[in-house]
Amino acid sequence: MIVRSALGIPYSKVTPKGAYLNRRQLIAAAAGGLVAPAAGFAGTKLAGVVKSKYSTDEKPNAYRDITTYNNYYEFGTSKEQPAELAKNFVTSPWQIAIDGAVTKPKVLDWDAIVKLAPLEERIYRFRCVEAWSMIIPWVGFPLSALVKAADPLGKAKYVAFETYYNTKQMPYSRYAGIDLPYVEGLRMDEAMHPLTILAVGLYGETLPNQNGAPVRLIVPWKYGFKSIKSIVKIKFTEKQPPTTWNIRNSQEYGFYSNVNPEVDHPRWSQAKERRIGEFFKRDTVKFNGYGDQVASLYSSMDLRKQY
Ligand code: MTE
Repeated sequence: MIVRSALGIPYSKVTPKGAYLNRRQLIAAAAGGLVAPAAGFAGTKLAGVVKSKYSTDEKPNAYRDITTYNNYYEFGTSKEQPAELAKNFVTSPWQIAIDGAVTKPKVLDWDAIVKLAPLEERIYRFRCVEAWSMIIPWVGFPLSALVKAADPLGKAKYVAFETYYNTKQMPYSRYAGIDLPYVEGLRMDEAMHPLTILAVGLYGETLPNQNGAPVRLIVPWKYGFKSIKSIVKIKFTEKQPPTTWNIRNSQEYGFYSNVNPEVDHPRWSQAKERRIGEFFKRDTVKFNGYGDQVASLYSSMDLRKQY
């Protein structure tokens, strides 16, 4: 990401990412694990959550890691800020407006959203474009359930998403350095893929605000910035919709953004990644390890050009 700090210095120049992560880990180690618990730890337990066959058996990261090392620019551009600055974000009542190429535009209330499909625990690999990764036990349901309920027309080829935006609730958003509201998009086949979910929870509880409460997208074979948070609008379109990081810098962030160790970011390598909580880097796996399930979606594409 290329946003500038308040000093006008790009964050990437202030501290190299690797060194930053190392230092965090060293500080955590020096504290003997005595790190303050995440703000907002007390989520509400979600009932009736079933296990999913799509989960990885890798060990999930600690709740503290997942909820204190965030990217949510509306609530600050440093990793620690969202946990603090999103504390009072109001996420109830919540609605998602559905429009565009659909039989009939509609507004889904929260109760209807969580009843679209049974809630599942999906333990997924999560790979950020900044070359760090985590294992995250989301709770959610397939986005395909919402797409079906939205009843899109045959001409709908893409799904566009929009995050809630309100400067009163998000006073730091003026320093975000990206156009807001945050927008993202998927091709229809990506949106319908069984691995693509809307997440409403984490570790069996409702989502913490900093992780995108009350509902966010998760597309586990793509870089994390595709996973748009706090969704209030879903629009079906014929043309490829604009996406926030592509608007910010189209040379660095494409529409597809599939995890790909063969295509480096112009300013850093994507060949390896640092799993938060580990010291040594791991090799990044194409499609974040989900290639068996998703590679066929892109068989006719040159993924170097359509990054
Ligand atoms: N959604 C919104 N609305 N605003 C953001 O700044 N950041 C993205 C994505 N979704 C972002 C967002 C990026 S860059 C990443 S890596 C993931 O959220 C981070 O999700 P996490 O904080 O739950 O790890």
